[in-house]
Amino acid sequence: MQTSAVQGFSRLSLEEKIKIIKEFANLNEDDLSLVRKYQELPDFLELENNIGPFKIATNFLVNGKDYFVPMEIEEPSVVAAASRGAKLARISDGFKGKYLDSKMIGQLQLLDVEHFEEAEKNILDKKDELLKIANEADEMLVKLGGGARDLEVRKVNTKRGVNMVLHLVVDTLDAMGANAVNTMVEAINPRVMELTRGKSCLKIISNFAIYRVVSVECKIPIEKLGIGSYLGEEVAEGILNACALAKADIYRASTHNKGVMNGIDAVVLATGNDWRAIEAGVHSYAARNGKYTPITDWMVEEKFLVGKIEIPMAIATVGGATNSKKGKLALKILRVQNAKELGILVASVGLANNLGALSALGSEGIQAGHMKLHKKFVEIGKSR
Ligand code: MEV
Repeated sequence: MQTSAVQGFSRLSLEEKIKIIKEFANLNEDDLSLVRKYQELPDFLELENNIGPFKIATNFLVNGKDYFVPMEIEEPSVVAAASRGAKLARISDGFKGKYLDSKMIGQLQLLDVEHFEEAEKNILDKKDELLKIANEADEMLVKLGGGARDLEVRKVNTKRGVNMVLHLVVDTLDAMGANAVNTMVEAINPRVMELTRGKSCLKIISNFAIYRVVSVECKIPIEKLGIGSYLGEEVAEGILNACALAKADIYRASTHNKGVMNGIDAVVLATGNDWRAIEAGVHSYAARNGKYTPITDWMVEEKFLVGKIEIPMAIATVGGATNSKKGKLALKILRVQNAKELGILVASVGLANNLGALSALGSEGIQAGHMKLHKKFVEIGKSR
């Protein structure tokens, strides 16, 4: 079966769901035995698409490819909202996304640089030498086609004086990159101190990953947005009002973005990625122009509601806990080829969750659907 749009998936028995995922993702006996081990744990509940360590969201069609999405989250309504958003998006070909790049920034902080312009010139003149030193510190990354690509010099005024801040720009390919980048900035540090005659302090990756930004869009026929007694036009109006408030009001922008991160964090966690790094990147990007803003936007274009998300996404398919049994299982269920594909998928899940939340909030409210699932959760818990 090559579609993730399975009618009534959540109402199927656990064994039927596992069978579908097994065939879709070509799971083997080892994978299934891991799934079952999680199901034997005392806290496992047969609820809202729980399979092994994950809850599974359905209906995702991203850049023409179907995905069942493993999510790690305690809240069943988040998975239901993601699946509903994805179902609406796939009416018009699903989500379309692209990555700008896969580069991370390593920062090297220099204090007491007396002759800033001269020091800056020395650094830029020796850029090739410094990049070579950086690349020698991670030969494996270079062998795979990644490595240090550029150096930038910034002047930052702090309360303790002017800092020279060097940015080492590194293509980390399918890795999140913290290890490679931190190793490289430490490697160039002695030569940088010679060239600037400054005193170095911090040498660390920046999570404000502006060279690793993903953007995703989707469009939904307005007539399909209806919920309960609310017509599609009314739901679309509610979504536009919600966005307008989020753009004008940080109290709302914060909650708006939390709803997006509900979906993003759950997939990031399932795949063994560093969700704190991604949270830090997204929230700093939301405030990149000096004002905290919503990270998604919705607009009406003719008969469609169009949604957009643009965020940094330092996600990996190799390294760290992506190599754990659970991380590998999630990546296998997703059938992703590389970190860029995963990042586009993850941002799509965030956009789907945002759509799910805003369409309910702007019409009948979220408590009806949320409480129905929550009640089921409590009842199953009590009956054990
Ligand atoms: C709750 O986990 C998430 C929402 O508050 C998001 C939002 O308000 O947009 C429903």
